[in-house]
Amino acid sequence: MKLLLTGGAGYIGAHVAALAEREGHSVTIVDDLSTGIANRVPGPVVDINLASPDSVEKLSRLMRDTEFDAVIHLAARKQVGQSVQIPEQYFLDNIGGLANLLLAMRQEDQQKLVFSSSAATYGMPTLDVVDENYPGVPINPYGQTKLIGEWMVKNAANWGLRGVNLRYFNVAGSESKKLADTAELNLIPIAIAQLKRGEQPIVFGTDYPTQDGTCIRDYVHVEDLAKAHLMAVDYLDMPVQEFATFNVGTGQGASVLQVLGELRKASGIEFEEVLADRRPGDPPRLVASTDRIEKIFGFKASFGLKEIVKSAWDAAN
Ligand code: WQD
Repeated sequence: MKLLLTGGAGYIGAHVAALAEREGHSVTIVDDLSTGIANRVPGPVVDINLASPDSVEKLSRLMRDTEFDAVIHLAARKQVGQSVQIPEQYFLDNIGGLANLLLAMRQEDQQKLVFSSSAATYGMPTLDVVDENYPGVPINPYGQTKLIGEWMVKNAANWGLRGVNLRYFNVAGSESKKLADTAELNLIPIAIAQLKRGEQPIVFGTDYPTQDGTCIRDYVHVEDLAKAHLMAVDYLDMPVQEFATFNVGTGQGASVLQVLGELRKASGIEFEEVLADRRPGDPPRLVASTDRIEKIFGFKASFGLKEIVKSAWDAAN
């Protein structure tokens, strides 16, 4: 297949690109390299800022030059805290970028799209596992842009778009050093960077209503997530798409202390964590129901927490 990947030089995008190429597909990468890294990917990177007004014409030209089988749209801003500081920029880039992409796809009659969505669309769910029908309300502009993105994909069905939204849970791990998550934005990369600087990882909140008092998340290996993207493209080839939205997780929850316990083993460093206050806006528990993706795609994560943390540590060292 010929795939167009936006945000393909990012941490997740580069894993999707690598897997797609290993499976014999040809991949064209669009990335403005604002956070992406060009040498994560072997081929050239087409530099397009999707939110800029000339992107529709540039994307259309690209789609006329190559007849793509599907588009995988990962290009977006993804920092929750930053989205609260500069919400307008998040709406401009995430919503505007997707709008321009859809305009170009419509113009060029390009009908298949896999959209990177997020468990941030659920907000503060109170369920043990959240399924895709849970009427979540995002609690930050980042999550809002992802939910609106899903609505945009849904509306585009009116002109014939076949779209799939993948709601990522907590993505971590790495295939190799080259593809490592170099941004210190999430628990595992933050804690690894702290250890490498000789600092102690910090636990935000130890009084949550969970077994050990720390927050529980569903950590999914980025290689499993990459696999889910290619399964989503195959799903779009089926004559009928019963569902448009799929959780991508493992269905297993792990607490902050459990994650740090695995990091202690992977690193061989006997660190003590710093126990700190809660971070505002953290749901105590966010774990995916994986029933739908298992049943419809046949997807099952093959890596667990141990492999996720070890691969992240190895990639960073
Ligand atoms: C995980 C847990 C923290 C850092 C975010 C986005 C979500 C998705 C994934 C993109 C929480 C705790 C963290 C630290 C800690 N992104 N923590 N010490 O908040 O679950 O999800 O990333 O779609 O939308 O919201 O991920 O990695 O920031 O935190 O104790 O130094 O680790 O409080 O409980 P989060 P995270």
